[in-house]
Amino acid sequence: MKKRPLGNSSILVSEISLGCWTMGGLNWVNGQPNGWANVDEDEIARAVKVAVDAGVNHFDNADVYGNGGAEQMLARVLKKLGLKSEDFVIATKIGHFPGTAAHAYEPAHIRHQCEQSLINLRRDYIDLYYFHHGSFGDHLPEAAATMDALVQEGKVRLKGQSAYSAEDFAKALPVVRPAVLQSWAHAADNQFIRPGSQVSQLMEKYKCTFVAFSPLWQGLLLDKFDPEKPPQFEDGDHRKTNANFQKEKLLTLKTTLGRMKERFGPTTADLSAVAQRFILNHPRVACTIPGFRNERQVACNLTAASRTLSPEDMNFINQLFGRK
Ligand SMILES: NC(=O)c1ccc[n+]([C@@H]2O[C@H](COP(=O)([O-])OP(=O)(O)OC[C@H]3O[C@@H](n4cnc5c(N)ncnc54)[C@H](OP(=O)(O)O)[C@@H]3O)[C@@H](O)[C@H]2O)c1
Repeated sequence: MKKRPLGNSSILVSEISLGCWTMGGLNWVNGQPNGWANVDEDEIARAVKVAVDAGVNHFDNADVYGNGGAEQMLARVLKKLGLKSEDFVIATKIGHFPGTAAHAYEPAHIRHQCEQSLINLRRDYIDLYYFHHGSFGDHLPEAAATMDALVQEGKVRLKGQSAYSAEDFAKALPVVRPAVLQSWAHAADNQFIRPGSQVSQLMEKYKCTFVAFSPLWQGLLLDKFDPEKPPQFEDGDHRKTNANFQKEKLLTLKTTLGRMKERFGPTTADLSAVAQRFILNHPRVACTIPGFRNERQVACNLTAASRTLSPEDMNFINQLFGRK
């Protein structure tokens, strides 16, 4: 497994890393479904073992995943497997879980959540601590200063910024000065990592690298959903209200995925590997962080480690998804 640096630092992460959102199970945030159904800790543990044996060294977590439950599960699973957490790069986030604070980026709340994440993760420090979103309100300067203090105190090694628009990244970067940016990147939407894009230019300027979430477009790129029988997600599964998982959108995508299979191979592993290598072939991408629920999914997604794509393949994918 090849490794790439986080920002300008000497901390290296595996090209294929792991997202831990599923570990939080079913969850609601402010009444909105924000979790995943049917997650089993023993299956997660077997999956983590397969990943670690293949060289995965980076886990992406957040305080809001299962409201602390995903951080706790990761710590339990590593311990059960006899692994030392400090041998891995553990990332977590603050921002979508305000507790009783008026705003999640109030300094007292950041400090509280940092301490709670350290307890949940059974760690003395967090390798990579993100602001989970870019909606700072009036709190940007004080939130950034609090994060800097946590670095000074040795509780955080590297700062990260997750956001959902170029505007939010542009506002946050000069103040937060993160080593790492995180947002979505997948074959259907590479707006943040596309060469020449505003966020790519910001990454050049501030020497950041990019951690790509939803690299499989939450399973959509794997051709696993039948448009004639769209998936019925449980209450608390965040995909329940997402139009991308409904018949019309699935039908359109089916044709595109058919063309992907013709060129790259028919299996789920082919689609997963190509989806991730497409992202990894962009400059400044450090890794993908596919989510998972079992060993089979992880083994399948790890095949991206040895997959290559030519410039012609990259053009093919860009054109297929409507880009020049
Ligand atoms: N910063 C942020 O705001 C943010 C937002 C979203 C995600 N993230 C991070 O990014 C990680 C990944 O993103 P994501 O979960 O949104 O999307 P993803 O990685 O594109 O999709 C993950 C889901 O796809 C399905 N899947 C994965 N591998 C599969 C395989 N080989 N075969 C069949 N199904 C497979 C699984 O769900 P099913 O089995 O249920 O179909 C899995 O939970 C998260 O865990 C989290 O760490 C961060």
